[in-house]
Amino acid sequence: SQLKMFVDEVPDMPRIKGFDFVDGSHVPKKLKIGMFHKKWKFHRDLPPTPVFAYGTSKKTATVPGPTIEALHGIDTHVKWTNHLPSKHILPWDPTIPTAIPHTRKGIPTVVHLHGGIDEPESDGHSGSWFTARFRERGPSWTKKDYHYHNTQHPGTLWYHDHAMGLTRVNILAGLSGAYVIRHPLVELPLGLPYDEEFDRPLVVFDRSFRTDGSIFMNSTGNNPSIHPQWQPEYFGDAIIVNGKAWPHMIVRRRKYRFRIINSSNARFFKFYFNNGLGFIHVASDSAYNERPVMTNEFLLAPSEIADVVVDFSKSKSDSAILSNDAPYPYPSGDPVNEANSKVMKFIIKPVHELDTSKIPRKLIKYPSPNLSSASLTRYIAMYEYTSEIDEPTHLYINGRSYEAPVTETPKVGSTEIWNVINLTEDNHPLHIHLGLFVALDQIELVNLDEFKECMMKINDAIKCNVNKHARGKKIEVPAHEKGWKNVYKMMPGYVTKIIVRFSYIHLNASYPFDATAEPGYVYHCHILDHEDNAMMRPLKFTH
Ligand code: C2O
Ligand code: CU
Repeated sequence: SQLKMFVDEVPDMPRIKGFDFVDGSHVPKKLKIGMFHKKWKFHRDLPPTPVFAYGTSKKTATVPGPTIEALHGIDTHVKWTNHLPSKHILPWDPTIPTAIPHTRKGIPTVVHLHGGIDEPESDGHSGSWFTARFRERGPSWTKKDYHYHNTQHPGTLWYHDHAMGLTRVNILAGLSGAYVIRHPLVELPLGLPYDEEFDRPLVVFDRSFRTDGSIFMNSTGNNPSIHPQWQPEYFGDAIIVNGKAWPHMIVRRRKYRFRIINSSNARFFKFYFNNGLGFIHVASDSAYNERPVMTNEFLLAPSEIADVVVDFSKSKSDSAILSNDAPYPYPSGDPVNEANSKVMKFIIKPVHELDTSKIPRKLIKYPSPNLSSASLTRYIAMYEYTSEIDEPTHLYINGRSYEAPVTETPKVGSTEIWNVINLTEDNHPLHIHLGLFVALDQIELVNLDEFKECMMKINDAIKCNVNKHARGKKIEVPAHEKGWKNVYKMMPGYVTKIIVRFSYIHLNASYPFDATAEPGYVYHCHILDHEDNAMMRPLKFTH
């Protein structure tokens, strides 16, 4: 039976300050955040669900985890601790490249701050996992205390699990949360909604539940004889916002800022309001746009962040349903149904309110991408391999497994052009650690079958004449996504050109850490089921 929609109120996840205030000034803070096995109420009428939750204690741990509020220029240190049991609550698959403790006991976890410009030792490398009490540690584990510099541009980030081969199940179990870097000196003059009440992170994901409340994840793989459990995409019927299924939020007739984080495994959302209300995009992923951009709908891939202002004073009705009509898998899968076409409901109070916040004409201008500054051009191809029964067995970047020797070794401080060639039928959100990029354009590949055949054989875009094939339809990047991003949607059958900067976008300074240190970084598809098997490659920096 279908759960009733809009009965629970959307919570604001607990906010934890990543800084202290001592003798009149802000100083770094050391936090301790654990991962706990507990039960979480996703819906009024659903029994409590066993989950893995982040929090400063088991009692206060939540799904998603607390929102960490950091201040630009003030370091935040986090000791992430694992208090999870010896057995996972979800099925996992030992036949894909997976962190497996020697004792076969304990759940490997490691935390990545997505969008963070941080030292490799604190980046949550997939091989840097650890089990409860740090009893077992992955091959590239370096330290317990993670150091977040917060010296980057202000914006929205999120933290989530990144353990090798277990990212999809660990995040499904509940391990993700929001992280905001604020720079009041730069942001307050913009006049955007800024107070806690009006500036709200919304972490959105899909889940399926059994009637006993437990999370349902199919335990039989699409190719059971090859991978007993692994499936190419997880989709759930219920849409969850801040840990509640189809919640509601009572809002005032004024402007709100929503930092919408898609932490689904594989679901894309195409958001729109059923009453025509618009979205004013002020940032995309972690970086502000140069100017606000108004849309009536937008597509948000797994791990992308939309940072939007919604002005409820413009609403002609007293409620607005945030809706979704993205097919799944995107773009050529099933159309949405009654359940997953609704996200949450805003109930708008009737009286107009004094609203001193505003939408400025200009936001923050970062340097535009400069093509002539690029020192290298790379071709990055995305492949999907299928079994005899025509089901996906694994996905690779550049035809290489994760373990194959590193091929992407950019110089610290450099700028590169990446032409990302998507030879599959799905859209893949590509995420690059440390780097920020601008998506320039997307060009359709003509005679795709011929090109694909050549690529499958020799895996060399130049020799397969990529430039002769890349002359089909050209798709513009939407205005609200033309700024600096850390994830972008790679269209199937297209070449997406991005310009990547491995330096700060807001200043001419080198990183306050050694980006060439071990264990390095990674880049990958952010469909978690793809990332785990094994659409991920190492990224090592050089001087
Ligand atoms: Cu959001 Cu490599 O991760
Ligand atoms: Cu993918």
